[in-house]
Amino acid sequence: LRIGVLASGSGSNMQAIHDAIVAGELDAEIVAVISDVKDARVHQRAKDAGYESVYVDPGPYKTKLGEAAQKEIADRLKAAGVDLVCLAGFMRMVKPPLLDAFEGRMVNIHPSLLPAFKGLHAWKQAVEAGATESGCTVHYVDAGMDTGSIIDQESVPVLADDTAESLHARIQEKEHILYPRAIRSIADKLLGE
Ligand code: GRF
Repeated sequence: LRIGVLASGSGSNMQAIHDAIVAGELDAEIVAVISDVKDARVHQRAKDAGYESVYVDPGPYKTKLGEAAQKEIADRLKAAGVDLVCLAGFMRMVKPPLLDAFEGRMVNIHPSLLPAFKGLHAWKQAVEAGATESGCTVHYVDAGMDTGSIIDQESVPVLADDTAESLHARIQEKEHILYPRAIRSIADKLLGE
C-alpha cells in the first residue's frame, strides 16, 4: 500500500505510521509527504525518517486549499503512485478536484469520537462541554467537515481535572495506535484479504 501523507503541524501521526511500518506492523510505504506549512515540524520528522517532504503553497484562503494547490498536490500524489492519502493534522478542507482524484481513498484522523465535536480544537470542545469521554476517529474524507464514514475509533476518559492540553495529549497517544491500525484494515480490504 503506497501512502501519501498531508500534514500541517508536528507530524506525530506521520511518525506513528512510519514507526508501524518499520516495526513490521503495517505492510505499506510512505511515498509522499506534503505540507501547506513551510516550517512545520513534519518536514524535519520526514527528513529524519528518510523521506523527502514537499511544501505546497496553499493559496490565498485561510481554511481551504486554493485550486492551484489542489491540482499540484493531486499531481504529486498521482506521480508518486499513491493508493491511500492520509490526512495527519492537515488543517485545510480538501475539496474537488483533489478530493475527486482520491475519492474513497482519502482518510483523516480527528481528535474526538465523531460525530461528537467536529471541527477545530475538538479536545477543547470536549473539555468545555463537560464530556466524560472523548477519543479519536479515523474516517473517510468527503466534502463535509469531519462527516465521512467512520473506519475505527478509540476512546479515552476525560478526567475532572483535565485541561484542553492534558486531554489532547491523552488523545494523541491513542491516535498513534489507532491510525496505523485503521490503515492496516483498509490495506487488508483494498488487497482483498
Ligand atoms: C491530531 O490531534 C489530529 O487528530 C488532528 O491534528 C493533530 C495532528 O497532530 N487532526 P500531529 O501533527 O500528527 O502531531
